Amino acid sequence: MYAAITGVGGYVPDYILTNEELSQMVDTNDEWIMSRVGIKERRILKGEGLGASYMGAKAIDELLKKTETKPEEIDLLICATTTPDHPFPSCASMCAEKTGIKNAFAFDVAAACSGFLVALETGSNFIKSGKYKKVIVLATEKMSSIVDYTDRNTCPLFGDAAAAVLLEPSEDYGLMDSLIKTDGVGFPFLNLHAGGSAFPASEETVKNRQHFVYQEGKHVFKFAVTNMADIAAEVIERNSLKSEDINWFVPHQANLRIIDAAVNRINVPYEKVVINIDKFGNTSGVSLPLCLWDCEKRFKKGDNIILAAFGAGFTWGSAYLKWAY
Ligand code: UT7
Repeated sequence: MYAAITGVGGYVPDYILTNEELSQMVDTNDEWIMSRVGIKERRILKGEGLGASYMGAKAIDELLKKTETKPEEIDLLICATTTPDHPFPSCASMCAEKTGIKNAFAFDVAAACSGFLVALETGSNFIKSGKYKKVIVLATEKMSSIVDYTDRNTCPLFGDAAAAVLLEPSEDYGLMDSLIKTDGVGFPFLNLHAGGSAFPASEETVKNRQHFVYQEGKHVFKFAVTNMADIAAEVIERNSLKSEDINWFVPHQANLRIIDAAVNRINVPYEKVVINIDKFGNTSGVSLPLCLWDCEKRFKKGDNIILAAFGAGFTWGSAYLKWAY
């Protein structure tokens, strides 16, 4: 038995933050951002008091509508996020409340940009256990709430979005394999320093701007460029897939140059690669399901899809999906 994705829902906020607008905020320009990263614009959630659960609920609403599923039918909701509305309760429980999901248990997964892969693997095993029939795997991130819009090194990179998939049992389609790794060596290079239990919020942490994403881009790039490509290659190899067997490659959308390296390593033609970094930037854990949502119409039943991600921790992984509809 496999856990098949039987629907995708998504939500992106209306507000478009362009490279032109960013270049009025910090010393940057469209040419640098496009050539070094490949982002043209990103979406930003505006509105007092709106957090990740606002977008997550919208993605779930669309998913339930598209799959003609009643919220009471959902057994489990897993939410991948690094930007929950509050440290507690979980973003998953807030999304459940907003969408009428009353008969499920719900919890968050924190694995940064690999969050969707971790949540997908987790949800898949709940389906495989035979105990649960309808599992929602959601990813939602309001990255703009932790981005320092005075720091040109990080502010062009991230965007806000949410996307969710429904998992149901299938004998032929679904998550065929996944491989995920963690190496805590990544902490100094990519983190949000304060606001947790080690360094709770204080006047000093606010003054020192320690509540924003900190990234040493070059170091992260080096790890990402090899690890994401290698792990995708490993999943492809251990499932005896040849390049021509792969219908779609869906990489994490952090940097077009990292995507290019992975594409070269696994040797798939560019027309089979899903890319939307230009429109949405890096939406962290939402990146992969947002690609599925964006390209859903291009997928066909039985398509072999390889997902790959890399993010803070470090955490990275790859998954092999057989598309179910
Ligand atoms: O999703 C989670 C995992 N994250 C990633 O995978 C991100 C991995 N890292 C990257 O994608 C890239 O390292 C970045 C896009 C973050 C940065 O690109 P880079 O080519 O590594 O640039 P850099 O940080 O080495 O900076 C090169 C130059 C520097 O100037 P100098 O020192 O050479 O004079 C920076 O100050 O570019 C400058 N720079 C900028 N210039 C214009 C940095 N940011 C900007 C900017 N606009 N926004």
